[in-house]
Amino acid sequence: MIGVFDSGLGGLSVLAALVDALPHADFRYFADTAHVPYGNKSEEQIQCRVLAIGEELASRGCGLLVVACNTATTAAVQALRAAHPGMAVVGVEPGIKPAAQESRTGRIAVLATEATANSQRLKHLIRDHAGNVEVFVEPCPGWATHVEMLQLDDPALAADVRARVEPLLERGVDRIVLGCTHYSFLAPLLRDVIGSRAELVDVAAAVARQTQRLAGGLAHGSGRLQLHASAHPERLRAALPRLHLGHIAARIV
Ligand code: DGL
Repeated sequence: MIGVFDSGLGGLSVLAALVDALPHADFRYFADTAHVPYGNKSEEQIQCRVLAIGEELASRGCGLLVVACNTATTAAVQALRAAHPGMAVVGVEPGIKPAAQESRTGRIAVLATEATANSQRLKHLIRDHAGNVEVFVEPCPGWATHVEMLQLDDPALAADVRARVEPLLERGVDRIVLGCTHYSFLAPLLRDVIGSRAELVDVAAAVARQTQRLAGGLAHGSGRLQLHASAHPERLRAALPRLHLGHIAARIV
């Protein structure tokens, strides 16, 4: 079984890509909804949650862990790997490299939680992979919570999306990296603002390919999905159709 986790619903965007890439694998998804959002928490608090979740998933028989959360990866993937030296751990990091390689204007942006935006790890990712491309980092407080509450049509959110993205476009940004897995569910809202001026960069499919490479025998299961959450587990299944993921509900056991 492959364990996948996030602070809440965001990692379902990664889970959907994983199910596409590994249709016969068994997955256990854990949403840490009692502690969402992670984006305004300290590195120590996030590490503590990630280690507890890793322990829980490993004890339930998961043989590979996917950290379907940029914020958790940034704060704690190294600690998680150290705690489970024999296990493959796949993290999610903002797609700076593909965005920088594809940019024609030489300017890209990253939308992320405050924790990711302010992290050393993101600074290093930019230093190592952006080359000469200029990178604008935009923290987006509150966006993950809107997704979590399924308030995807809230006019206040639409206004905030426009207020944050329009100035980036005016600076000539032509690639916008989704640096938080929750933001995949805001793609329609973002596209309304962006039009044809820029493209969104989402790494979910790349994370799924990396997981596929490491899955070995875990790729050959029964195609089952278990959904768990630290609070309101019933909301997880109910959210699937709202997030256009109704097709994975049939796998739930
Ligand atoms: N989905 C998470 C990420 O990719 C974090 C959202 C949050 O809990 O703040 O960063």
